[in-house]
Amino acid sequence: MSGEVGAVRRFAFPEDGRLDAPMRASWRRDGFLILEGFATRPLCALLRDRVAELIEDFDPAANRVAFSAATQSHASEAYFLDSGDKVRFFIEEGAVGPDGRLDRDKALAINKIGHALHDLDPIFGPFSRDPRLAETCADLGLADPALVQSMVICKPPEIGGEVLTHQDATFLHTDPQSVVGFWLALEDADRGNGCLFALPGRHRGPLKRRFRREGDDLRMELLDPSPWMCDGEVALEVPEGSLVALHGLLPHRSGPNLGPRPRMAYALHVIDRAATWSPDNWLRRRADDPFRGFDE
Ligand code: FE2
Repeated sequence: MSGEVGAVRRFAFPEDGRLDAPMRASWRRDGFLILEGFATRPLCALLRDRVAELIEDFDPAANRVAFSAATQSHASEAYFLDSGDKVRFFIEEGAVGPDGRLDRDKALAINKIGHALHDLDPIFGPFSRDPRLAETCADLGLADPALVQSMVICKPPEIGGEVLTHQDATFLHTDPQSVVGFWLALEDADRGNGCLFALPGRHRGPLKRRFRREGDDLRMELLDPSPWMCDGEVALEVPEGSLVALHGLLPHRSGPNLGPRPRMAYALHVIDRAATWSPDNWLRRRADDPFRGFDE
């Protein structure tokens, strides 16, 4: 059973991005931090328009083999594995037939777009390197932050898939752990359209899984096979423009979107280069195109 214990704390995003003592205390206690008003509604609209443009320019037929359930495995795995320094489109499972064709308008079939919008996209790039966010990173303890991964998570109406409980450090591992996820609501997010859920305070627990890449093989290693105990889970319902910071060890998930309203979000992951990037992470960059910081 999941239930809510106490109210979820929320703050207004500080003008200069600097976190005050109550915000830092909330982050340390819960492992997440809700900062409302990071992006204005007009800016969210601009970002959504950019997503619409990206999808308009995307040709699903050209990538049919990558989406085909019948040919799964290799083509789809390579399409994913090579996406760390690209802008690629991933399709909702329920929206694609065995031949890889979409069964609905492509604008309503995209699960996510990733994973290097922060480096490549003329709109999401500068947005991701907002100097206020650099200040927030410093206050969250990232000494030498680098932006490593970005995704637009479309969560389209009626078909938007759920994301099961996980820790981001499973997928973006450093030694010591340093990854912080920033999740920006590009639309109001609530239980009705697949908002985030989190287990407050459980970022103190150990990492339970490692997603390892060996050559072109991917393997999920179970470090702790016990199931998540989801007592105390809270819904992170937030208005459009809110930024949610998530500690890399915080267990979180998002529900499906089975209703009529969309729930688009932008997720950006930052690591500390004072820690060591684990070479067996799925995400790799060429030596001549390394991760970059906020003003690089
Ligand atoms: Fe996550």
